[in-house]
Amino acid sequence: MNTLFLDALKGQNFGRPPIWLMRQAGRYMPSYRNLRRQYSFHEMSHRPELIVQVTTMPIDQLGVDAAILFSDILLLLEAIGADLHFDEEKGPLISNTVTNTAGLHAFSLNSIPEKLNFLPGAIGALKQTLKVPLIGFAGAPFTLASYLIEGKTSRDLRKTKQWAYRDPEGFQKLIDLLTQGAIDLLTLQAHAGVDALQLFDSWAGGLSEPHFIQYCQKPLKKISDAMRALEKPLLFFCRGSCGFAPLIEKTGVTGISLDWSQPICRIRKDLPGIPLQGNLDPETLYAPLPAVKSAASTLLDSMNGDPAYIFNLGHGILPDIPYEAVQHLVETVHNRT
Ligand code: CP3
Repeated sequence: MNTLFLDALKGQNFGRPPIWLMRQAGRYMPSYRNLRRQYSFHEMSHRPELIVQVTTMPIDQLGVDAAILFSDILLLLEAIGADLHFDEEKGPLISNTVTNTAGLHAFSLNSIPEKLNFLPGAIGALKQTLKVPLIGFAGAPFTLASYLIEGKTSRDLRKTKQWAYRDPEGFQKLIDLLTQGAIDLLTLQAHAGVDALQLFDSWAGGLSEPHFIQYCQKPLKKISDAMRALEKPLLFFCRGSCGFAPLIEKTGVTGISLDWSQPICRIRKDLPGIPLQGNLDPETLYAPLPAVKSAASTLLDSMNGDPAYIFNLGHGILPDIPYEAVQHLVETVHNRT
């Protein structure tokens, strides 16, 4: 078993830094695109044998040091009652959006175990074959709320923010529901055997500080406490995590996954000890291969010998990134001694 990733999460990695990549199983991989010709994303994320196959692709082909379960943060919304559809052009769409507290009655956490009953089997099968740790994940309440309200990926989160400002008490009810939903999903994955967890609050970076505290930091503290009780390490990612890092650290979460807006060594100076993951700009991978290597080397040099550092991008790999660039990146990190 390759334990570099779990060692770094304990602040005790004295070897080279581990590397895994957000969205490491996806359309930039020729083998993923081939399989996607045969199956819809919905089928691929619901059939255990396909979940296992896709989760292991980046381990077998790239040799990354951790696997992340092939799934999507929006499957939780589907499991609690959302009408979710992945459109080939427009991305995820939800038709029964919610805009006020009266609409919350349509959603129930009770259906999670039944609707996601294919996950424990897939996780169990993965644990039998993988030689690297398996990461489970969930979407954080604010980001999930934004999809349930907007019905799609939204740049400005207008309806979401309008609800939060017009009716804070009602909006809090939605956040509370989704906080418990995230805890239920992470607990299900923890019981099924994942080694670590990551919470994605992709769109929380657009919040004011008081709203970040209320709708991101406080729920994260609850989720982090629940995962500590289960003894599962939990990483937290949001766009804007560099700026909000001190608030995130206060929640007691195991580690922080940083976006690329600041040098990671600057965050390290302010937050000694806590595991830090990141934070190469994902678009670096469009550069010629020698430039990819040089950018990765600069980042590695800046964190040299840090026992709590995990190499990753500052956000997910984009679908049109050249596969060779990702291969080159992984080799660069692996060749560190
Ligand atoms: O990291 C991994 O490889 C694990 C799998 C994973 C997916 N989505 C697979 C996926 C993870 C961790 C996610 C998280 C996710 N999903 C987030 C949070 C992280 C982030 O990127 O900010 C969000 C906001 C979503 C919602 C979502 N799912 C969108 C907006 C889209 C369409 C746009 C896109 O990037 O493709 C999806 C679809 C999706 N989720 C795909 C994959 C591989 C593409 C499906 C396909 O067409 O083949």
